[in-house]
Amino acid sequence: MAELFDVELNLDDVPMSQEALADAAGRCDVLVPTVTDEIDDSVVKSGAGRLKLLANFGVGVDHIDLEAARACKVAVTNTPGVLTDDTADLVMALILSVPRRLAEGEKMVRAGEWKGWAPTGMLGHRITGKRLGIIGMGRIGRAVASRARAFGLTVHYHNRHRLPADLEGELEATWWENLDAMLARVDFITLNCPHTPETHHLIDARRFGLMQRQAYIINAARGEIIDEGALCEALERGQIAGAGLDVFEREPDLDARLLDLPGVVLLPHMGSATFEGRQAMGEKVIANIRVWTDGHRPPDLVLAEWV
Ligand code: DGY
Repeated sequence: MAELFDVELNLDDVPMSQEALADAAGRCDVLVPTVTDEIDDSVVKSGAGRLKLLANFGVGVDHIDLEAARACKVAVTNTPGVLTDDTADLVMALILSVPRRLAEGEKMVRAGEWKGWAPTGMLGHRITGKRLGIIGMGRIGRAVASRARAFGLTVHYHNRHRLPADLEGELEATWWENLDAMLARVDFITLNCPHTPETHHLIDARRFGLMQRQAYIINAARGEIIDEGALCEALERGQIAGAGLDVFEREPDLDARLLDLPGVVLLPHMGSATFEGRQAMGEKVIANIRVWTDGHRPPDLVLAEWV
């Protein structure tokens, strides 16, 4: 970036305050936020007359007030595609970790508590032959589906739009128009949809009540898609068997009950955290800015009917 543009960098690797973001928005043409920067209405408005592009470093844009950006004619780009495989790998790792109690076993060995192999030691549940329900069949959902098939899971999905028949056939995936009906039938549920006003608390107490007692829920999308309090209650009551979570409603805070509940694997929002992925994300950010500064439509426009 420094070779191509006149840049100011946040070298601390810690989120900027709202004041610092508003100040930066008023001084620059392009702002490059990450998921931890809350680009709210006041930050966007502070850039009025100057800020033209929010080139997000990441695919999710729920930390950006898109309505404010639209109103102020600020374009928004993101970095789709380059973190699909890394995120799908992490979803698969959680699908394997939770029912097979991998994190628990690892802790036991480290704590010096392992007394050796035993016929009933560390029993978990089999993955092969179970049903996986994917909510959101975009790039990441489809990448999860193809991995899941290799592990012998049957793939079910809920998505606003049904996939084209050839793709559905390739993934051997069954579409459920009705999310409630799918939730009642699957053993694993993975969330792979964006967080929007429509998907906020999509999985709430009522929907936990529909799930099977042996079901596991996996979330590497956005914490806000699950009502975290309702999740803790469902786990406490044994309404579901466990959860694999890479994201939380109020990161980096989480409901303290999650720390003590059995059958829960907790990760620090690391779905896209590979060197290769982060480099590719950075290159996408630069490409978007460069194409925009050259006067063309950036390749990864999320918002900008006017560009
Ligand atoms: C993404 O790209 O959305 C990741 O969650 C990190 O922001």
